[in-house]
Amino acid sequence: MDKTFAAITGVAGYVPEDILTNHDLEKMVDTNDEWIVSRTGISQRHILKDPSKATSDMCVEAAKVLLEKTNTKPEDIDLIIVGTVTGDYVFPDTANLLASKIGASNAFGFDINAACSGFIYSIVTGSKFIETGTYKKVMVCGADKMSSILNYEDRSTCILFGDGAGAVLLEPSNAGGLIDAVLKGDGSGCEYLHMKAGGSLNPATIETVTNKEHYVYQEGRVVFKYAVKGMSDTIKEVLERNNLTNDDIDWVIPHQANKRIILSVADQLDFPHDKVLINIENYGNTTAGTIPLVLRDFEDKFQKGDKIILTAFGGGFTWGSVLLEWTY
Ligand code: COA
Repeated sequence: MDKTFAAITGVAGYVPEDILTNHDLEKMVDTNDEWIVSRTGISQRHILKDPSKATSDMCVEAAKVLLEKTNTKPEDIDLIIVGTVTGDYVFPDTANLLASKIGASNAFGFDINAACSGFIYSIVTGSKFIETGTYKKVMVCGADKMSSILNYEDRSTCILFGDGAGAVLLEPSNAGGLIDAVLKGDGSGCEYLHMKAGGSLNPATIETVTNKEHYVYQEGRVVFKYAVKGMSDTIKEVLERNNLTNDDIDWVIPHQANKRIILSVADQLDFPHDKVLINIENYGNTTAGTIPLVLRDFEDKFQKGDKIILTAFGGGFTWGSVLLEWTY
């Protein structure tokens, strides 16, 4: 019997209208456009300013476009998975809110908390429900409202991140789709990238708020090194175990955390830069949103049969690489 793969049959994305440029940040913290562009590759990021909107609302916008593009009725969606660390609430999960908001009345959903690896963890999880024949239509979103957990007085973090959402539809295919994935995790990396308070270890108190502990805490230099190694190692592993070389790969789609991280990975593995897709200049790091937003922005370049690597690294630590074959 032919193996059933989970294929991406459509991609969509959404970023809020409001833009925060490097020049805007110059007025907020001690930084400058030249430093940000040369150290990160970022020129601007989109920010969800409307206080009544949250991560699920960005997912709704992406999901609506996805449903229309793929000619899918919301009630035909079986499962929704949202990769995010900035869900609307600690509970309930964003995926269920999203299902209700788009009328996916037959779907159940759950969130996956894997920070910048949220999209690849989610797409691999979603693919298993298709490969086993359990479901036919799985919507996978990666979305984060990073502006809700950033300290805009900390120049080392606030310049890096933006808000955004992406969504893909997974459906069964007999030729192409998600071929293989290597996913990794190491909780000892927590100390270098986390949010200190708001969880069960340090619930919110007046002190945690006063001490600004509800924001992203990051030791950037350490994370940078682990990110380059984690993405490079897992790309190598997924290529080797599928008997592929760089020449077999048409596109590499890395998580967009820092242009220098991306190019270091490409150089370590001898991938020509024109195979490595980058849009960080426009959005910054949208955490779980980066990879589906790259898929959306570069969708026109992909041909049926193209072999694509998705690779990510994020808080946890979490990381991994996915090999897929494009099917449309
Ligand atoms: N503007 C100007 N100067 C800044 C700055 C800013 N926004 N942020 C930091 N600096 C300064 C530092 O204070 C430091 O000054 P010093 O040498 O006087 O102490 C100097 O720039 C170098 O800082 P450093 O942290 O070593 O810079 P870096 O080259 O490592 O770049 C990051 C910092 C955060 C851009 C980089 O480490 C990074 O991208 N790390 C990965 C982070 C990431 O994206 N993680 C998300 C999950 S993968």
